Amino acid sequence: MAQPTATTAVDAATLEFPDYIKHTQFKEWVREMVALCKPDKVYWCDGSQEEYDRLCNEMVESDTFIRLNPELRPNSFLARSDPSDVARVEDRTYICSVNRDAAGPTNNWMNPKEMHEILGGLFDGCMRGRTMYVIPFSMGPLGSHISYIGVELSDSAYVVVNMRIMTRMGKAVYDVLGEKGDYVPCIHTVGAPLEPGQEDVAWPCNPKVKYIVHFPEERSIWSYGSGYGGNALLGKKCLALRIASVIGRDEGWLAEHMLILGVEDPTGKKTYVAAAFPSACGKTNFAMLIPPAPMEGWKVTTIGDDIAWIKPGDDGRLYAINPEAGYFGVAPGTSEKTNPNALRSIEANTIFTNVALTPDGNVWWEGLSAPPASAIDWQGNEWTPASDKKAAHPNSRFTAPAAQNPAIDPAWEDPNGVPIQAFIFGGRRSTVVPLIVQSFNWSFGVYTGATMGSEMTAAAFGTMGQVRRDPFAMLPFLGYHVGRYFTHWLNIGRNISDPPRVFSVNWFRKDADGNFAWPGFADNMRVLKWIVERANGRGRAIESPLGYMPRYEDLDWRGMEDFTEQQFQELMAVDRDIWLQELLLHEELFMKIYDRIPNEFIAIRSLLLSNLWRSPEHWEMGAGAYNS
Ligand code: GTP
Ligand code: SPV
Ligand code: MN
Repeated sequence: MAQPTATTAVDAATLEFPDYIKHTQFKEWVREMVALCKPDKVYWCDGSQEEYDRLCNEMVESDTFIRLNPELRPNSFLARSDPSDVARVEDRTYICSVNRDAAGPTNNWMNPKEMHEILGGLFDGCMRGRTMYVIPFSMGPLGSHISYIGVELSDSAYVVVNMRIMTRMGKAVYDVLGEKGDYVPCIHTVGAPLEPGQEDVAWPCNPKVKYIVHFPEERSIWSYGSGYGGNALLGKKCLALRIASVIGRDEGWLAEHMLILGVEDPTGKKTYVAAAFPSACGKTNFAMLIPPAPMEGWKVTTIGDDIAWIKPGDDGRLYAINPEAGYFGVAPGTSEKTNPNALRSIEANTIFTNVALTPDGNVWWEGLSAPPASAIDWQGNEWTPASDKKAAHPNSRFTAPAAQNPAIDPAWEDPNGVPIQAFIFGGRRSTVVPLIVQSFNWSFGVYTGATMGSEMTAAAFGTMGQVRRDPFAMLPFLGYHVGRYFTHWLNIGRNISDPPRVFSVNWFRKDADGNFAWPGFADNMRVLKWIVERANGRGRAIESPLGYMPRYEDLDWRGMEDFTEQQFQELMAVDRDIWLQELLLHEELFMKIYDRIPNEFIAIRSLLLSNLWRSPEHWEMGAGAYNS
């Protein structure tokens, strides 16, 4: 941003508000935050295209953005973050409930008073030399009964333009807010005030101090020191997951880290499913899947790729909406083969962060296509295919409007949501977990979600490749006690007449040579088809120790006839010794929540154990001798 040269800092007392803002308490909050952060300017975002274009142009001038070749990528930009600011910071993320116990064993916690003192110190003068942008946004369609309003105060223009894509952002939000409507106050700073005359950098952030803080009782969010993704776009993980999960607990609904998709069968019948996979484990890919050509008449449409708000309807079913308006998707691995709909979605009007720049002003990342002869890598250095570094950061991302997805579902903005008939849980497991299992019933399904594990990716915090328990793919996103959350899930199913069927999938099982044993991507449609059939009371299965499984002949192999029954059985194998070990890992999680573990889980674990001790010739898939 071109920064004002003189210190003409705004005076909080005489701060002028546009006359369309009529909310007294909101004005007070802004005045308070201006007095604390001491920005040089306050800017009221209206959400218009003109504003978006102007801010993008200003960021091009200040080197935060590089304009991509308008013939290849119209109205699109590349941003390179500071190398220290490339992903969410889970170890710096806090749930500051009044009681420590309310945050549970999986969250960082601090006493709210103590945290407010720390933040009060850090935020004092944090926007000196910068502009405070006032960003009004709605999670969910504007004015819908299901939506929540937030206002983010941020000193980052990058945040403004990303929020305009990811949420319904703009002036119209104030009409919904009225004189005393509810909103979630969100305050964000990159934590890099400028001294008079000090020149700004392309990606200001605080390399040393970062805090991503949630006050569930106050329903407020404070974010310090990072400009990246979930740390800075506060409508996403902070509001729509961490704060919304607490609201959902209190009001009887679910805020989940899930994609939502529709499946149309050849007769035109539509079935909606929601799926929880951890960060960078394939939600965007699955949400936009294009079935293999030989599976004629099957079609997948997208409602959302990252977050689902799910509420019981009057008819005893669960209805889901996508509270977001855009995709903040993982770039590496996105290609014509893995996700053509994502490529169509990012052809124009897209912000790329931390990907490589080609000499013709286009973007490139590992997996997109044959590598260019040369490029500028995500850190701004010369790169060639001979280089031993990655051209794009593994957690590099695109921000694109959902409406640009050719597979967008016609109901994606329906404020009533779509009825969910199946939940799917999936992690990244190179061993242990079979390709597909249907849980015996709702409680078994909740157990499956609760005990999910996944190998670490660049989007998460931990040692790459190591398995960590990631209940419901919500470990980094839950705003309260994980044990209480399990009970909430059990209750949801108990209080509706027709709970969805629950499935577990694993696209990531590897063979003895370390290669993926399942082709994945488009071919996941074969598994999805079986799920949809089962959810509609059709489709054949046999009983395994873990749940119902399809036999080889129960899946549609058209166009994939060379995939043998032997290969399929390797993907489906349930090894007793390995599963006994896995149950011990479940136990490790349960020990952490010893005082909140639902009774059902103890019972289900015992049932699984007893199932595993059934005579193997009755179910061992590898032997091909299970009963049918
Ligand atoms: P967040 O946006 O971080 O919440 O994650 P996401 O779940 O939307 O991640 P995304 O869909 O972008 O996942 C990308 C990663 O999953 C890439 O490494 C893909 O190659 C990989 N992936 C997706 N689907 C498949 C699949 O069917 N098989 C295999 N082997 N990899 C897959
Ligand atoms: C995730 O990490 O699950 C994301 C990306 O969806 S971020 O918004 O940065 O959290
Ligand atoms: Mn996510």
